[in-house]
Amino acid sequence: MAITIMPVTPDFAAEVHDIDLAKPLTDAEFAEVEAAFEKYSVLVFCDQHLEAEQHLDFARRFGPLETSIAVYRGDENLRVRPEIADVSNLNARDQIWGEKSRLRMFQLGNRLWHTDSSFKRVPAKCSLLYARAIPPIGGHTEFADLRAAYDALPGETKRRIEGLVAEHSIQYSRAKLGFAQFNEEEKREMPPVPQVLVRTHAGSKRKTLYIASHAGRIIGLAQDEAEKLLAELTAHATQRQFVYTHRWRVHDLVMWDDRCTMHRGTEFDDLRWRRDMQRATVSDTAPTCEQEGARVAAA
Ligand code: OGA
Ligand code: MN
Repeated sequence: MAITIMPVTPDFAAEVHDIDLAKPLTDAEFAEVEAAFEKYSVLVFCDQHLEAEQHLDFARRFGPLETSIAVYRGDENLRVRPEIADVSNLNARDQIWGEKSRLRMFQLGNRLWHTDSSFKRVPAKCSLLYARAIPPIGGHTEFADLRAAYDALPGETKRRIEGLVAEHSIQYSRAKLGFAQFNEEEKREMPPVPQVLVRTHAGSKRKTLYIASHAGRIIGLAQDEAEKLLAELTAHATQRQFVYTHRWRVHDLVMWDDRCTMHRGTEFDDLRWRRDMQRATVSDTAPTCEQEGARVAAA
């Protein structure tokens, strides 16, 4: 049976039906999924029964996988293999984390609007998040369409931001939550990296904003001006008309395009309910400045 694509809106978010991700897709099936991914940015696959290997095999069709960063590799967090980011509220003993645990303080960053791995020189292309357990209330994931948000900017703003380069660091996003306990290895592994503010989405050739809570500076702008601009762009891009909210069911796999969306997790009682979510992440092909041909002044 042919797969079925059911758009949620005409060009953002779609459900994919009549597909079993536990089995290898044919090239023709994969081409259909890939075309839907490039067009809709967020794809929802319901009722998928996947072992980690099947989850990773599907992810690998889109490109090379990332491995988790050091801060996720502490003793607190050995539940999953290194190609999987553990986005759960569970510790290595598979119990709900402690209120004061480092893991919890760190993971609360997922509640800020962001795109995955923009703090890496080569950031993520896409993320594939699989739900093994969900809370009965809350814990949704919201997605913002940064191509539509770019299109809707006033011409004056488009001209102002063209060619600008921001600096992204996981330390900037965590600082917004008052978290600053990075050790030396973590700091060494994650220096701030340059990312263009406007990019051309490779799959569709549409222009898109590229912003995240990880962005903390803009090269060539005064700090207060940079912060104001980043806050304004984020507020603009996350208005209701650009946002799809995913309400999870167990066995949903949701994939999103990190090149042209932001996402955030919504609140839930994380000291009461288990939320077991695991993510495979695919790397993009090159640094965004290289992709855009931007000349980046030394930061
Ligand atoms: C992620 C993420 C948010 C959520 O997996 O990258 O930010 O709702 N998740 O779990
Ligand atoms: Mn994320």
